[in-house]
Amino acid sequence: MTNSTTAPTTVEASIAAPIDSPIDALADVLPLTARSNAAGVLQIGGCNVRDLAGAFGTPLYIYDEHTIRQTCRDYLRDFQAHVPGARAHYASKAWLSPALVRILVEEGFGLDVVSAGELHVALAGGMDPEHIGFHGNGKTRDELQYALDSGVGRIIVDNDDELALLDELTQEGAKEQRIMLRITPGVDAQTHAKTTTGLRDSKFGFPLPSGQAEAALVRALEAPFLDVTGFHIHLGSPLFNIEPYSDGIATIGAFAADMKERHGYEWREFSPGGGMALTYTANQVAPQADRYAVQIADAIHTACDTHGLPIPDVHIEPGRSVVGRAGVALYSVVSRKHIPDTRDYVTVDGGMADNIRPAMYESRYEAAAAEQMNTVPSLVATIAGKFCESGDVLVRDANLPTLQLGELIAIPASGAYQIAMESNYNLALRPAIVMVNDGDARLIRRRQTLDDLLDLEL
Ligand SMILES: Cc1ncc(COP(=O)(O)O)c(C=O)c1O
Repeated sequence: MTNSTTAPTTVEASIAAPIDSPIDALADVLPLTARSNAAGVLQIGGCNVRDLAGAFGTPLYIYDEHTIRQTCRDYLRDFQAHVPGARAHYASKAWLSPALVRILVEEGFGLDVVSAGELHVALAGGMDPEHIGFHGNGKTRDELQYALDSGVGRIIVDNDDELALLDELTQEGAKEQRIMLRITPGVDAQTHAKTTTGLRDSKFGFPLPSGQAEAALVRALEAPFLDVTGFHIHLGSPLFNIEPYSDGIATIGAFAADMKERHGYEWREFSPGGGMALTYTANQVAPQADRYAVQIADAIHTACDTHGLPIPDVHIEPGRSVVGRAGVALYSVVSRKHIPDTRDYVTVDGGMADNIRPAMYESRYEAAAAEQMNTVPSLVATIAGKFCESGDVLVRDANLPTLQLGELIAIPASGAYQIAMESNYNLALRPAIVMVNDGDARLIRRRQTLDDLLDLEL
């Protein structure tokens, strides 16, 4: 990547308070291995991002293997300390690739999938189907059949139509399938309206307060080839406030007790879902795995003590928090614009096609000039994407140093729900993905080519 020597068009704006250099200011949002070298170039996993951009181009998604592995270990250690035998299923929807699956298998994680596509990649990556849970409110007949044929450990049944279909398919195949029922407990997760899922008015799950959850259980218990192992809730994401887990678990514990009393049904398994938060900006603090573990474990123990229930086998489903911090999006500056008395724009070579989250959820991020990590920012500029939507803005009012054309911009905390939600909008080419570890950079997905765009056209 060569830097142009063209004079910058951005004008230095005054920044109110003194700020640290980005390598210090962003320490909590960058991957665990992030460092800067003497020249101020960002290093991740022992790899210099300027070299990575030179070898693989931009936009480039960089994943730090060490951060993924460490996060997995923290989750299992912290949850198993409070709920013996607790398991973790990574929520594939946050980002899935065979390379990631291989790491998860080695770290002792299972997977939650929501489509035939995710199931296919999970199996291709070597995940034992026994450790896969199949979710989703719109599973088709083909998808359910694929899940049954693959031998997935559990299907998390979402609604009456799915239950009827699964009953029919398992009777046809005369093969037992373990299922969990996804229950909507009617609890406010206090997160973005588009990512809250535990309220009564939700497209997900069997509503509890209306009696539909109970009716579903009765029906499932009558199905000859369905083995109902327990209940599942997922309240929303990200949950910076951890109180809603207690409310959801108390509600589901009372429901489990009711079902025992009225139908003689005893739960063996329970999942509080995912939703563990991620620190996206320097002024945020996402709770760490141990805080979720204590909150969730206490609520489960309290519910079981209160109602005289056995402690169920527990599995959690973190997605965002497992891969989010490991990922950094790397872009190149392609144009700059100063609008007097208004704003400075810096446009990069990616945007909403690889990161739809700011446009969709008003998500906020930090940004840094990846070759000036030791330089204290001196201006405020808005980082715009290159796509033909005014809403394609990646970071509003980022603190940056003076930037040259072609300079690299790093956006940390980019590992979750970005590549997973990518598109070919404006027929953009999907970015390359590189996994870094101990100075080694492994291309795990090549960049799309122009010819790839024609591949599906007949
Ligand atoms: C059922 C279920 N489990 C787990 C998750 C993962 O949530 P997060 O990525 O916030 O941990 C989701 C996210 O939507 C979900 O729907």
